[in-house]
Amino acid sequence: MGNVFVFDHPLIQHKLTYIRDKSTGTKEFRELVDEVAMLMAFEITRDLPLQDVEVETPVTAAKAKVLAGKKIGLVPILRAGLGMVDGVRKLIPAAKVGHVGLYRDPETLQPVEYYIKLPSDINERELIVIDPMLATGGSANDAIASLKKRGAQNIRLMCLVAAPEGVELIKKEHPDVDIYLAALDEKLDDHGYIVPGLGDAGDRLFGTK
Ligand code: URA
Repeated sequence: MGNVFVFDHPLIQHKLTYIRDKSTGTKEFRELVDEVAMLMAFEITRDLPLQDVEVETPVTAAKAKVLAGKKIGLVPILRAGLGMVDGVRKLIPAAKVGHVGLYRDPETLQPVEYYIKLPSDINERELIVIDPMLATGGSANDAIASLKKRGAQNIRLMCLVAAPEGVELIKKEHPDVDIYLAALDEKLDDHGYIVPGLGDAGDRLFGTK
């Protein structure tokens, strides 16, 4: 636990390049994010436990394996996290989805949770928190703390792109949480954007500005 995994699969890297490209429009951006989320889910679930079963093939009885029933929960952080949920659910359709909405009070700088709705059994689930842009790490840090306060035991963090500052914060505050990334970028700029990054993920997903 507390590990950082950067997925260098060629398909993920190829698609991420077009996600970064400022000339990529909303429709294509959304589709690419969805595809990368699906590819990342394939990697993130590599260690899910299996159990032995018997199956009748058209030819014979065979020993085979199925997932050992580990329950998964996805927790996108609003709003950009929504862009990666469907891609993950294509591979893990049984996953339940909770939502967390947070903003930082500009005066107190304290996190304000304006929305939270979670599966009732989060303490039994392997939770994947989804935050496409891990910039300062403030939102992911607060969301993870909030889930732990409500009983979550096993949490992973899935991001598209991260800055070193965000990764360091999560490693320090939540050393039990593994972090999965498509890219670890260079730094944050003065406005809190990841460099080189891809701009504002929420705006690019939803066509706002
Ligand atoms: N959030 C974004 O959407 N993009 C960044 O670069 C940083 C935070």
